[in-house]
Amino acid sequence: MAVVHDLNPVIIIPFVLLSVSLFNTSFSQSQAPPPDPAPAPASDSCNGVFLSYTYNSGRAIPPTDPTNQAYRFESTLRVVNNGRHELKSWRAFVGFNHRELLVSASNAVLADGNSLPDAVGNGAVFAGFPMSDLKSAVETAGDTSQMEVSVGLVGTQFGVGAPDVPMPLNISLVNDGYTCVNATNQGNRVMHVCCVIQDTNSNRGVNEEFLPRQDGDLIIMYDVIRAYDVNYWAQVSISNHDPLSRLDNWQLSFDWMREEFIYTMRGAYPYVVDTTDCVFGRQGQYYQDMDFSQVLNCQRRPTIIDLPPTMANDSNLGRIPFCCRNGTILPPLMDPSKSRSSFQMQVYKMPPDLNRTELAPPQNWKINGTMNPDYECGSPMRVSPSQFPDPSGLPSETAAIASWQVVCNMTQSRQAVPRCCVSYSAFFNDSAIPCNTCACGCNSNPSQTCSASEPALLLRPDTLLIPFENRTAEALEWADIKRRTVPNLLPCGDNCGVSINWHVLSDFKDGWSARITLFNWGESRFEDWFAAVQLDNAVPGFEEVYTFNGSVLQGSNNTIFMQGRPGLNYLLAETDGSNPRKDPRVPGTQQSVISFKKKSTPGIQVATRDGFPTKVLFNGEECALPTILPSKAPMISAASSIVGFLTLALLLLM
Ligand SMILES: *[C@@H]1O[C@H](CO)[C@@H](O)[C@H](O)[C@H]1NC(C)=O
Ligand SMILES: *[C@@H]1O[C@H](CO)[C@@H](O)[C@H](O)[C@H]1NC(C)=O
Ligand SMILES: *[C@@H]1O[C@H](CO)[C@@H](O)[C@H](O)[C@H]1NC(C)=O
Ligand SMILES: *[C@@H]1O[C@H](CO)[C@@H](O)[C@H](O)[C@H]1NC(C)=O
Ligand SMILES: *[C@@H]1O[C@H](CO)[C@@H](O)[C@H](O)[C@H]1NC(C)=O
Ligand SMILES: *[C@@H]1O[C@H](CO)[C@@H](O)[C@H](O)[C@H]1NC(C)=O
Ligand SMILES: *[C@@H]1O[C@H](CO)[C@@H](O)[C@H](O)[C@H]1NC(C)=O
Ligand SMILES: *[C@@H]1O[C@H](CO)[C@@H](O)[C@H](O)[C@H]1NC(C)=O
Ligand SMILES: *[C@@H]1O[C@H](CO)[C@@H](O)[C@H](O)[C@H]1NC(C)=O
Ligand SMILES: *[C@@H]1O[C@H](CO)[C@@H](O)[C@H](O)[C@H]1NC(C)=O
Ligand SMILES: *[C@@H]1O[C@H](CO)[C@@H](O)[C@H](O)[C@H]1NC(C)=O
Repeated sequence: MAVVHDLNPVIIIPFVLLSVSLFNTSFSQSQAPPPDPAPAPASDSCNGVFLSYTYNSGRAIPPTDPTNQAYRFESTLRVVNNGRHELKSWRAFVGFNHRELLVSASNAVLADGNSLPDAVGNGAVFAGFPMSDLKSAVETAGDTSQMEVSVGLVGTQFGVGAPDVPMPLNISLVNDGYTCVNATNQGNRVMHVCCVIQDTNSNRGVNEEFLPRQDGDLIIMYDVIRAYDVNYWAQVSISNHDPLSRLDNWQLSFDWMREEFIYTMRGAYPYVVDTTDCVFGRQGQYYQDMDFSQVLNCQRRPTIIDLPPTMANDSNLGRIPFCCRNGTILPPLMDPSKSRSSFQMQVYKMPPDLNRTELAPPQNWKINGTMNPDYECGSPMRVSPSQFPDPSGLPSETAAIASWQVVCNMTQSRQAVPRCCVSYSAFFNDSAIPCNTCACGCNSNPSQTCSASEPALLLRPDTLLIPFENRTAEALEWADIKRRTVPNLLPCGDNCGVSINWHVLSDFKDGWSARITLFNWGESRFEDWFAAVQLDNAVPGFEEVYTFNGSVLQGSNNTIFMQGRPGLNYLLAETDGSNPRKDPRVPGTQQSVISFKKKSTPGIQVATRDGFPTKVLFNGEECALPTILPSKAPMISAASSIVGFLTLALLLLM
């Protein structure tokens, strides 16, 4: 094999093809490792970051299943920095494509923050751990132990048995500014690639001591603020950078990689206080004299929750800036002081890390909550130490000892079921178009007594105030008045906890207006609620939102952002009617009117298109929109429409 790298690459290609077929017929029968697939010489010809993937061994594993056989595979990913500069926080992509389940990886973690085992059949990005930076030969006088890393991978794959070899599609370095060239297969068990800094302008941070901080939707900082030999204090700050999303009751979890445990915390608390892993584990043996009843949490993967506001001034647990809001993180423009959370924890380390300079952040971060987007968090990146205002009030800054940044971006991958929906109505149509049938899901029970596919029945607008389960009589009566046919199996409800009525209220030569009503059908109230409405063509004419505090979203030309004014920042829960025996339950409501001028939106078609939103968010969650708009009939039954609207307005005033 050693001759291969000396050959001109043009000649290599046929040679590779030839050697593939040779392997197929001779070696792979037994799946024994080939004599020496080490591509060491190939790395020498790469003056950048050399990546290789070597398949070492594999075998069929139970159960026996000719149609879907599982196999164990063991392989090695090598990353060698042959470039001129240090490679900070290396991240390498491996294009797995045999439904692989990765079970273990040495010297690396998954960069998307998932813990192992994890399904990686669509490829995976690895990040170095504990050694995340690869120094250059120049800096280390060619010390390979600091220049390269070997990641041992063990996992399960499906369907590729001897003589075939489950190789990934491709491998590459995903660090900014690098491009990978000269991808080569050596035999059928080795592939390698050379990644070089492409554009010297974009080699951000290659000469800096630390990587530049990244942007993202949610940023978590892990700042070590005090360090001792056996323990350190870390401050964790979570800040929301997305204008339209929020978290409620956040839950944060991560993996300790070096057997650390949490001795104490301020500003947040572990979801379970559990020290059994320490008492029965290595920690208990090492810290013989420690009173583990004082220790908070020894789980390898703890879940951290925020403290309630009542703890904010607690001398043991609170007194941390931005702590203790029951896990609520608002969009930054609503209230910057409520758009971040932070807490501190004292972390005990284990040998061999008992040195105040041995610091490693936990990995595999995940954050979620009851009302939140799905976030995917990257692995922690070492960044320049954060600066904090001096705690004693002196006009100086204190720097963290070491800082890591975890960037979490929202993912649209999972088709989450909406939790709110929109109904439409308009002054020119006496029927309201309710939320879509099953807008927020329906149970798929066959014995169901409603249809999940029939469109919702048009309603008299005031019927929108009645809980869905008590609307049937009104809906049928209205259908009868309007001479509409009703399906045998009536449509199911929307099942949304929150619904929003958008009512086009007026349309004049110079301007138009809409009324927005929020309904809470749930059992709990929403504090600090917000809503955002996207109107594709109308926002340049935005004039005013009455009752609510509303404005055009900064940096946007199509979205209006609304929140309750002080005192109206609660959307109350559903309550009993005044006479519970006779009256249906009453939703919590908030209502406002939005006015627009037409001068800056010439040609706007309010009634047929532009007066209705194209996207509506409530507390950051996207609401389901109706599929049809109210249409303008040639003849308007003015009387009944006015009665309907007056009733709605009156009921809301009560
Ligand atoms: C890639 O291969 C070409 C020859 O085909 C060679 O000139 C070039 O230096 C190689 N690039 C790297 C980064 O090794
Ligand atoms: C790997 O290959 C796949 C398919 O060939 C391609 O879509 C993908 O962009 C490649 N990924 C990287 C990181 O090069
Ligand atoms: C997260 O999003 C920001 C832009 O909002 C982007 O610059 C960054 O690369 C993203 N990070 C990841 C890990 O996808
Ligand atoms: C905590 O103390 C601050 C300042 O002394 C005060 O404004 C705040 O109301 C207190 N919070 C609670 C929950 O007691
Ligand atoms: C905090 O959140 C919990 C759980 O959702 C809830 O039961 C409690 O009422 C909240 N407390 C406050 C003060 O909002
Ligand atoms: C701690 O680490 C530093 C730097 O790696 C080293 O110089 C020092 O000897 C170590 N101290 C102990 C007690 O191991
Ligand atoms: C959030 O994540 C934790 C732990 O990962 C999990 O136990 C919890 O059920 C999740 N909560 C929600 C609302 O998804
Ligand atoms: C809003 O801005 C986008 C790009 O920033 C532009 O394409 C679009 O035409 C603008 N829309 C209006 C109504 O001005
Ligand atoms: C209205 O909201 C803006 C931010 O969107 C805020 O700066 C302002 O103080 C709020 N006004 C009131 C009266 O709440
Ligand atoms: C409304 O519907 C619920 C559920 O079906 C029922 O329990 C309740 O009695 C109804 N209320 C009225 C006033 O009809
Ligand atoms: C109201 O709008 C709906 C939906 O577009 C339409 O089916 C109905 O005929 C309209 N009713 C009147 C009176 O215009």
